[in-house]
Amino acid sequence: MSKISFQIFLGALFILATGAIILIYGLNEEHRMAVQSAAMHGRAIEQGAALFEQQCSRCHGIQGTGIPGLCPPLNDRAFFDKRLQEVNWSGSMEDYIVATVSSGRLSSTRPQTFPGQGTPAMPSFSDRFGGPLREDQIRNLAAFIMNWEETAETVTVPEPPSEPAAGTKIIGTDITQTLPAGDAAAGEKLTSTLGCVACHIASNVGPAWRATGSEPGIGSLAAQLIHDPNYTGHATTPEQYLVESIVDPNVFVVPGFSSGIMPGNYATSLTDQDVADLVAYLLTLK
Ligand code: HEC
Ligand code: HEC
Repeated sequence: MSKISFQIFLGALFILATGAIILIYGLNEEHRMAVQSAAMHGRAIEQGAALFEQQCSRCHGIQGTGIPGLCPPLNDRAFFDKRLQEVNWSGSMEDYIVATVSSGRLSSTRPQTFPGQGTPAMPSFSDRFGGPLREDQIRNLAAFIMNWEETAETVTVPEPPSEPAAGTKIIGTDITQTLPAGDAAAGEKLTSTLGCVACHIASNVGPAWRATGSEPGIGSLAAQLIHDPNYTGHATTPEQYLVESIVDPNVFVVPGFSSGIMPGNYATSLTDQDVADLVAYLLTLK
């Protein structure tokens, strides 16, 4: 082999080797990018979960299973399988979630079952509409919600009675009215079907009802709080305090908690019998 052709041979070998290195790196890069995008997706879901707890759980429930009489479940088979068709949405689920969360809902599409908290039924969250969240945060929330798709079960939503049962009436906000006799066992059941337990027993989103080490239960606290110098409500008896907390929650906000979290629609959705039962049950938690 002449010197020149040897150099050409070496040059060709070098080019081949470089090509091979680039090829191997390129293949590896694809894998590396896949790993990285999975990690990014994981982080998006994590951030979405934290945002959900702060911004959404008070209406859609801690696990996304909704709050009966208030807001729809999202961690729900029917939401993933049927909802887009029901509302005639031709885009993707992600876009539906992002659009709903960004602009909120002025009025509910199912006002009988999920009235939300007044007007708007759901506030706008996008900073473009004066809300607290950026576009990327809303995308993370969508990633978190869509993460439920694989495991979501069917949530059965109790139908609200269209008319109060005979002999009962919608409670309203008068805390001095005489209530029918309450049934503590029926009241305890209501705290599950109405979702009160999610905030008051299963989590500390609302004040604990059960006695803890130093604090008595709500049944005893009610009697103490009406004499507290910081109490801003109008109740003169423990019963009235409990009724007031349910039908007019913002007149006195329990220290350490924020207003607007305890659902505000009970005065117009519960009957006097429901509230009497709830109060009878709460008074047993000394
Ligand atoms: C004040 C209560 C409230 C808060 C807070 C709230 N929502 Fe909603 N949300 C509602 C109501 C009410 C609806 C409308 C139900 C309807 O139209 O039938 C709704 C609808 C939705 C829907 C569409 C559900 C469907 O079945 O069509 C999504 C998705 C949603 N909310 C996500 C969120 C997320 C994410 C957050 C937190 C950033 C949030 N919501 C905060 C009350 C609330
Ligand atoms: C989404 C969470 C949430 C749900 C659901 C909820 N609450 Fe509350 N509740 C709160 C928060 C937060 C407070 C404290 C702020 C305030 O006083 O408004 C509170 C306060 C109260 C108080 C006063 C507690 C005290 O220590 O003085 C009572 C009584 C009460 N709720 C009863 C109920 C009943 C009954 C239900 C169901 C019919 C219910 N709550 C559902 C969050 C919730």
